[in-house]
Amino acid sequence: MLHLMPKIEEAAKTIAAADSEKPRIGLILGTGLGGLSEQIEQRAVLPYGDIPHFPKSTVESHKGQLVCGELAGQNILAMEGRFHYYEGYSLQDVTFPVRVMKQLGCEILIVTNAAGGMNPQYSLADIMMIEDHINMMPENPLRGVNDDKLGPRFPDMCAPYDKELLTKAKAAALELQVPAHTGVFVAVPGPNLETRAEYRMLKAFGADCVGMSTVPEVIVAAHAGLRVLGFSVVTDMCLPDALEPVELSKILAVAAKGGERLAKLIPEVISRIDS
Ligand code: HPA
Repeated sequence: MLHLMPKIEEAAKTIAAADSEKPRIGLILGTGLGGLSEQIEQRAVLPYGDIPHFPKSTVESHKGQLVCGELAGQNILAMEGRFHYYEGYSLQDVTFPVRVMKQLGCEILIVTNAAGGMNPQYSLADIMMIEDHINMMPENPLRGVNDDKLGPRFPDMCAPYDKELLTKAKAAALELQVPAHTGVFVAVPGPNLETRAEYRMLKAFGADCVGMSTVPEVIVAAHAGLRVLGFSVVTDMCLPDALEPVELSKILAVAAKGGERLAKLIPEVISRIDS
């Protein structure tokens, strides 16, 4: 990680040149969940290709741009589309934008993803507020010589998801009557979905939702000292004894519905964050 700082600074400089306001919140919008960005009062939009050292998104359902602006009274930086391990990037590449958000002044990271629901009490398009996670990816974004300027060698993981933000999110969901659970997210490398035996195993491990992202970004956020709030949208039900083949078009349709719910919930949560 020692070589990272100059790259982070260069990317941050480019973004700061497009928007001079200091962001407080970084937002990562997952597969099919980009709708929220319409609510942002945009000051600048940067395609990832215009930001030095940002990888390029290869997923068609992701836009691949960074939106700088205001949402619910706070300055935010929103990623429309993220980078995934299964696309072939290293986890250092996948998590590079989180480093840049921190460099620009962000204190909070809000992450969202489309995920498979393994908890039988969940329904399609429900939201799960992430309370904890399990990392089943075969790599770690912090592997390598540590740069103490970026964070500690052995970052603590006893509470990577901020309890106060989670409490605010729960209260907001209740008030808005958005169907939302609290649970454990497990990250797998993908790109294939899981077998029935794998879903059984992941559920037995204690996970409620499974997806191919988020955990690397949260590990880096914890390393960088960012407060994290995470949301999964249940896009397919992963019940081993009633498993059906998934279709990306169906996942995206359900993500759109869940995305509408998130588009109500997230601004409400942001408006409750003390300035
Ligand atoms: N497994 C892994 N990732 C996913 C799934 C799933 O069932 N659904 C959406 N992303």
